Amino acid sequence: MKNIDWSKLGFHYTEPDYIVRAACHNGVWEEPYATQDKYIHLHVSATCLQYGQEAFEGLKAFRGVDGKIRLFRWRENARRMARSAEGLYMTPVPEELFGKAIRLALTKNMDFVPPYETRATLYFRPLLIGTTPRLGVGPGRDFEFIVIPSPIGPYYPGKFHCTTFVVNRHVDRAAPFGTGQFKVGGNYAASFRATEPAHAQGMDCLFLDAKYHRYIDECSAANFIGIKKPTPPLPEGKEVIEYLTPRSSAILPSITNDSLMTLARERGYKVTRRHIRLEELAEMSEAAACGTACVISPIDKVVDPDTNRIYTLGTEPGPVLSELYHALRDIQFGRSPDTHNWTEIIDN
Ligand code: PLP
Ligand code: COI
Repeated sequence: MKNIDWSKLGFHYTEPDYIVRAACHNGVWEEPYATQDKYIHLHVSATCLQYGQEAFEGLKAFRGVDGKIRLFRWRENARRMARSAEGLYMTPVPEELFGKAIRLALTKNMDFVPPYETRATLYFRPLLIGTTPRLGVGPGRDFEFIVIPSPIGPYYPGKFHCTTFVVNRHVDRAAPFGTGQFKVGGNYAASFRATEPAHAQGMDCLFLDAKYHRYIDECSAANFIGIKKPTPPLPEGKEVIEYLTPRSSAILPSITNDSLMTLARERGYKVTRRHIRLEELAEMSEAAACGTACVISPIDKVVDPDTNRIYTLGTEPGPVLSELYHALRDIQFGRSPDTHNWTEIIDN
């Protein structure tokens, strides 16, 4: 195992030994291969540079309590990357090639899988770029698929602690029929004007729908979840706790959110996906950002500078989201049975 201070890792790049690459020309994918070379020889007019023809993914491998290494729901990432590719007129990476590349990136970097006790994980950043030189505006026909592994710690500092979010009606992340549903670099670059000032104040951004600025869309790199308790409170045992998450054509379909919705339904919670007005935060007992990188990151406050309103959601992670957090982590780290076949064990 590498000599890394695993417990001090944040969400930062640590250079792995190998990355994995595969090229595609005129619709035909070549076999993926591992290389120590972290640089690419790219034409200055490549469509990824000129016109942002680029998509990426994020998934993790976990060293479990039994020492086994588990990949979490990689097929979902492969399918989402194929949808992003189609959204940007790129040739999708075949699912089996995607899986092969991830497994190769893992087996060539086994020493970078963090020890179980540290809670750090090996993150994979699959990247798909257009490499055809082109000046005329349009898509290319050549692509490169790259898998970059890196051990990472928590996205937000601390183990499972609260973060404050701020809304911004002056910067939109993604339009209703734009590329928000795809995981493409342009969405993230477009959000920097909002996220950088928020980060400078120790907060992150909660984006509203771009048409009305009325409904919650998602966080800058994660979906939004709110927990609603019935009002007035029903007698003990009759309470229906509601797991609420936005329905929007401008947000990324999160694999973590999908997993949590399944776990929430299993626990008898009502799961609702619909437009959520910002003001409804006042009726929520808990809220969080959820995603591969941030898992579940509870939200303590949402600040609305335009109305001077602050929605307070509690200074500690709440009971419902804590329960779901532990249920998900238990599956990922092999502490509870994987009844949904979400993990693939990789021999080490
Ligand atoms: N929304 C955005 C904008 C993201 O960047 C991410 C991270 O991948 C998510 C949601 C969460 O998706 P997932 O749970 O599949 O990682
Ligand atoms: C992830 O959660 O995997 C992401 O890709 C979000 C962000 C770090 C871009």
